[in-house]
Amino acid sequence: MALISIKQLLNSPAPVPGAVARGWIKTRRDSKAMSFAELNDGSCRESLQVVFPRGDAAFDALLPQLVTGAAVEIAGDLVASPAAGQKYELQAKTVKVHGGCDAEKYPIQKKKTSDEFLRTVAHLRPRTNKYAAMLRVRSELAFSIHSYFRANGFTYVHTPIFTASDAEGAGQMFAATAFDLTKLAGIPKTENGEIDFSKDLFGKKVGLTVSGQMEGEALALALGKIYTFGPTFRAENSNTYRHCAEFWQIEPEMAFYELADDMALAEDFIKTITKDVLQKCPSDIELFAKYVEPALMDNLRNITENTFERLQYTDAVKILEPVNDRFELKVKWGVDLASEHERFLVEQHFKKPVILYNKPKEVASFYMKLNDDGRTVRGMDVLVPRIGELVGGSERENRLDVLEKRMNDLKMKVEDYQWFLDLRRFGSVPHAGFGLGFERMMMLITGISNIRDVTAFPRVPGYAEF
Ligand code: 4AD
Ligand code: MG
Repeated sequence: MALISIKQLLNSPAPVPGAVARGWIKTRRDSKAMSFAELNDGSCRESLQVVFPRGDAAFDALLPQLVTGAAVEIAGDLVASPAAGQKYELQAKTVKVHGGCDAEKYPIQKKKTSDEFLRTVAHLRPRTNKYAAMLRVRSELAFSIHSYFRANGFTYVHTPIFTASDAEGAGQMFAATAFDLTKLAGIPKTENGEIDFSKDLFGKKVGLTVSGQMEGEALALALGKIYTFGPTFRAENSNTYRHCAEFWQIEPEMAFYELADDMALAEDFIKTITKDVLQKCPSDIELFAKYVEPALMDNLRNITENTFERLQYTDAVKILEPVNDRFELKVKWGVDLASEHERFLVEQHFKKPVILYNKPKEVASFYMKLNDDGRTVRGMDVLVPRIGELVGGSERENRLDVLEKRMNDLKMKVEDYQWFLDLRRFGSVPHAGFGLGFERMMMLITGISNIRDVTAFPRVPGYAEF
């Protein structure tokens, strides 16, 4: 049987004689007659108060080891607590110290430390209240996402991480090879002196996926409604608060969906998972509202209670152009809107989430469906306060001739994409999908302002520790 967690003990319907609690000591204070330790095992935000009698030789000998950070196992009686704010306390009878902790050297002290410092000890920061709460919310959010799709008839699929197709066509793929790069001389070369990937493990040049979309399309055109939930990788050197080189993406893809259906799904999805996490993690969310982002609850109500504004790119330009003096990058029709413009639209103008759609084809991905105007495509981005782009998606170009022409115009190697074109050759249907950045959703729900702090071990330019 599984060991009982502190969460289970605190939720116990009645006192438990002969209970055992295991965890790490957060703090300890002593009075003449007793010592009190706060014990936390990560199962919930709350710690269990453990009471040790003083004057008992066995306890007194152990007391110097019962310090912040020490890992202990305590047997005793779980009794109603006389102290305010806690239902139970554990009256210790025996203590086992699993691992002591040198309080002088332990980097996680009770006093407030900076996020920057905690990133340098990312292996220990999950022991802090904030990062443990973040990781519990992350887990619940992942489950909420799966529940949402399961309840709505989607099939969960797994798309490859090694891939030869650059789904975004943006050249941000990390290369992956089985060649030993430390021995350059041993790497096979072609006659022109280039690396001969035909001799590599896959017999061709591959990279780490930037998106599961293309393979997702193939699966949606067989199963109807699918979603992926996996890691994706971008070799862009973006050192910002909202970019990681490795991040998780949720990508639903739906046969017979058009752009409006895609937008409706994205809106419902974001609202539903937000409400679900609020309901499942009230205590952890309260911690974020109290210590991380005072406006968190208002921000979240802004997401769950408003209808997301549908805004065509051309209309966005009409709003932005007159206030161009505010922006570093001046807006005119055809410009790819930057984060500053997106945030102005959501935070200043509409003051609620915006779904920006129908952007110019010049600033759009090759696979987005061309509108009848010949200038814009059926792409959409969901923009939210503080973060900007949370979701990117589109209705896909399902006409073989139009897609081939577009790929040729972009000088793409069409021969590499024949399987993708087959989806348009054989039983093509309108279809659409989107990608939601999991870490950005975490930033939204927790109010944590840097993507480095919503993932246990971030991968960002210049940093791949642990
Ligand atoms: O807008 P993106 O690039 O869209 C795609 O990859 C499509 N193939 C998705 C699809 O239609 N199936 O990325 C989707 C989302 C962004 O809106 C953003 O939330 C997140 O992924 N994202 C990142 N998150 C963290 N770090 C990065 N470097 C990110 N790049 C994109
Ligand atoms: Mg995008």
